[in-house]
Amino acid sequence: MILGVLNQKGGVGKTTLSVNLAASLARAGRRVLLIDADPQGSALDWAAARQEGPLFSVVGFPRPTIHREIAQIGNGYDHIVIDGPPRVTDLARSAIMASDLVLIPVQPSPYDVWAAEEVVKLIEEARVYKESIKCSFVVNRKIANTAIGRDVGEALSAYPVSVLSASITQRVVFAEAAGQGMAVHEVEPGGPAAAEIEAVTAELMELAR
Ligand SMILES: Nc1ncnc2c1ncn2[C@@H]1O[C@H](COP(=O)(O)OP(=O)(O)OP(=O)(O)O)[C@@H](O)[C@H]1O
Ligand SMILES: [Mg+2]
Repeated sequence: MILGVLNQKGGVGKTTLSVNLAASLARAGRRVLLIDADPQGSALDWAAARQEGPLFSVVGFPRPTIHREIAQIGNGYDHIVIDGPPRVTDLARSAIMASDLVLIPVQPSPYDVWAAEEVVKLIEEARVYKESIKCSFVVNRKIANTAIGRDVGEALSAYPVSVLSASITQRVVFAEAAGQGMAVHEVEPGGPAAAEIEAVTAELMELAR
């Protein structure tokens, strides 16, 4: 599976989900490559902060030619996760074209719902060339026991893109793990954050089939 984690909006959780989904796929015994397609290099920073041995490979490729080079870069891996950049349209477009499945994290906020229009448009444009690209929203930073989490799902239904039934709650462990270059399942084995990531991974694997 080539999974692109994309949203033109900044700070929605692209890198957080990319590293944890890559970790979850690697945990299942698959060979995983994480491509950092963001010039900010956050996924590379995550890898650099890590003390332990690597869970998966991480390479930086912030160039608008990923779609042409992915076969070569990703040779020998079972799964590739692309951590997309905010704003930079040519990089996002290339990452979308490289992907089998595009995951769009959105926070439960009307601003995120409105801003999603941009990435949805890019996916529709890409589909003219590559019809097979699949996509889905995932709600990230859901706040437990609030209506806004449900409301965002409803608001997103205005787009021709489905929303994963699994979602990710706002939890401090995501930031704590990131600071140490770790996945949430390493910091809190068997914890609720790890379980949510597993559920998203399972749903994505099903979608990508
Ligand atoms: N589910 C979550 N719970 C708590 N904190 C979160 C969660 N998801 C993301 N964060 C925090 O939100 C901030 C932004 O997340 P992240 O860097 O993953 O977003 P991004 O979309 O990659 O941002 P950018 O557009 O700058 O690349 C980070 O500080 C991260 O730790
Ligand atoms: Mg990022």
